[in-house]
Order: sequence, then C-alpha cells, then structure tokens
Amino acid sequence: MDYVLQTDHLTKRYRKTNVVDQVSLTVRAGEIYGFVGKNGAGKTTFIRTILGLTPPTEGTFRFFDGQELSAARKRTGSLVEGPSLYKNMTAQENIELYTRMLRADRKHSQELLKTVGLADTGKKRVSNFSLGMKQRLGIAMALVGNPDFLVLDEPINGLDPKGIVEMRELLLNLHRAGKTIFISSHILGELEKMATRYGIIAGGHLVEEITAEQLRQICVARTVIRTNDPQRAAKVAVRLLPADAVSIENDLLIVSQPIENIGALTNAMFAENIIVSGISSDDNSAEQYFIRRMEEGSV
Ligand SMILES: Nc1ncnc2c1ncn2[C@@H]1O[C@H](COP(=O)(O)OP(=O)(O)O)[C@@H](O)[C@H]1O
Ligand SMILES: [Mg+2]
Repeated sequence: MDYVLQTDHLTKRYRKTNVVDQVSLTVRAGEIYGFVGKNGAGKTTFIRTILGLTPPTEGTFRFFDGQELSAARKRTGSLVEGPSLYKNMTAQENIELYTRMLRADRKHSQELLKTVGLADTGKKRVSNFSLGMKQRLGIAMALVGNPDFLVLDEPINGLDPKGIVEMRELLLNLHRAGKTIFISSHILGELEKMATRYGIIAGGHLVEEITAEQLRQICVARTVIRTNDPQRAAKVAVRLLPADAVSIENDLLIVSQPIENIGALTNAMFAENIIVSGISSDDNSAEQYFIRRMEEGSV
C-alpha cells in the first residue's frame, strides 16, 4: 500500500465561495498527517467531503491506492466535530451499540475501552464524563471495526493540558500499532509533537505540504540578538557567519543557524562598541513559520 488518501483538485463551494479550493494532497501509509489551518480555513468541510458526508463540487478523492469506495470506507474510522454519543449510556454500551450498527467484530470491540484508557469507567454514564473522556470514547468509536485509517477533526480542541497529553499518547500508540492518522487542528503546537507531515490550509487553499523533518530544518535554532545598533551588529555577524543566515527583524538581529561560538560573536561586537543587551533562542519559530505561511496563503 502506497497512499491511504489522495485528493485531486478537491473543491467544495457554498453559494459562490470555494470553501475548499482545488486541494490536492496525499496521505501515505504510516503517516500522522497534521492538517493545520485557522478557524474557518476549510478543514471540517474538507474532512466531511472525503468522508462522504457532503458531495464535492469539483475534483476527486481516492483511498487506499484506489480501492473501491465502499470497501475503503470500512477501513476508515472518523471523529468529526465531537463524537455522537448516547449520554444516558455507559462507554461500554455506546461501543456495543455502535459495533452492532456497523456489524463489526465484537471481540475486537471489547479491547477498545482499554486502548483508550476508559476500561474502568464501569456504570458511569457518558453524561458524567469529562470532555477528555468523551473525546477518547469518540476515538474508541472511530476504532470500531479496526480501521487502518483514522480521520480526526480537531480531537484536541478544548481539552485541558492533561487531556492533551493523554490524547497525544493515545494517538502515538495507535500510530505505533500501525494506524495511519489524519488529524486537523487550528493550533500547530498541539500537533508538533506528533505529526510526521503537515498540510497547511488557508482560505480553502492548500498552501504547503511539509514533512516534520523539513520543518525542523527550516526552524533550526534561530537566535535572536538585541543590540543598540542592529545594522552594524549585522555587519559584524556576517564576518563570522554565512551572510544568508543573518537578518534583521524588528530591530533585532536574527541568526537562523546554530551558532557554535556565541562568545566570539559577542566579543566581536563589544570590540566595535556595540552593546548586546539580550540573546535568546526562538523556540516558537515553527509556530511563527506556520502563521506566516497561513497569512501568505489567505491573501
Ligand atoms: N454548510 C455550509 N453552508 C455554508 N457555508 C459553510 C457550510 N459549512 C461551512 N461553511 C463555511 O465554510 C468555511 C469553512 O468552514 P469549516 O470547514 O468549518 O472551517 P474549519 O473547520 O477550518 O474551521 C467557513 O467560512 C464556514 O462558514
Ligand atoms: Mg472545523
């Protein structure tokens, strides 16, 4: 198996607006594909379209190297806009009902609550569950039928920090167990410790696809240096560092590669009577990169 999902110029138009606009993306087997975009970017509409919940206006999509659609649907589990759960029933009862509806394997379903960390909720009704527990039960429902591909629309949205960690661990475990996962979020940071590849969507357009490794290389240890004279500081910096790694943003000197000898750099600046008043590494540069790309894409 090569790819799990491939869309070709997929477009969904509401009234006269292309909410999803010519999106061609590929999810390969074994990936955790992070689908990132601001609220209103078109993530849910894209997901609803590939799941067959709404027809595309233009373009096509295929699953599992072009497998026949009804067979492919059985290999795909999803969680879109919060799980549909029966609140008066227990976790177990919800799973059992859904298993019967899908005519899925009961034996496998019994394991599911353990997989998502809800095995000991017993007689507790879903109405008394925390949001994190409901979301995890939603993942368990998506896993009924033992699908190869999980499509999850903002499963982390609204969770508290503990819930986020639990959800991330659950998804990483499922990935280790061989599932391919497509997960959307409007917050990159939530996906950053998980995704192996990203697609950035803005204003319905797929702005970019980028692997986690490429993103890491783009964002290597940016160092931000505050001085009283950024122009002269930059001239000093390019004596010691490659010119294309040195830039000025908002009166700050930015070095976009690891600096082996920061002492040599600051000494050279002191020697030129430049005052260095702060040095920091820019940990949030991946987030900045995505924000920039999303803003470029939506204009
Ligand atoms: N059924 C619909 N009819 C009309 N407009 C819609 C419909 N569903 C979504 N939209 C619009 O499409 C845009 C994208 O929405 P959505 O796919 O929900 O974005 P996201 O999930 O990225 O927040 C929004 O402007 C939204 O108002
Ligand atoms: Mg949405």
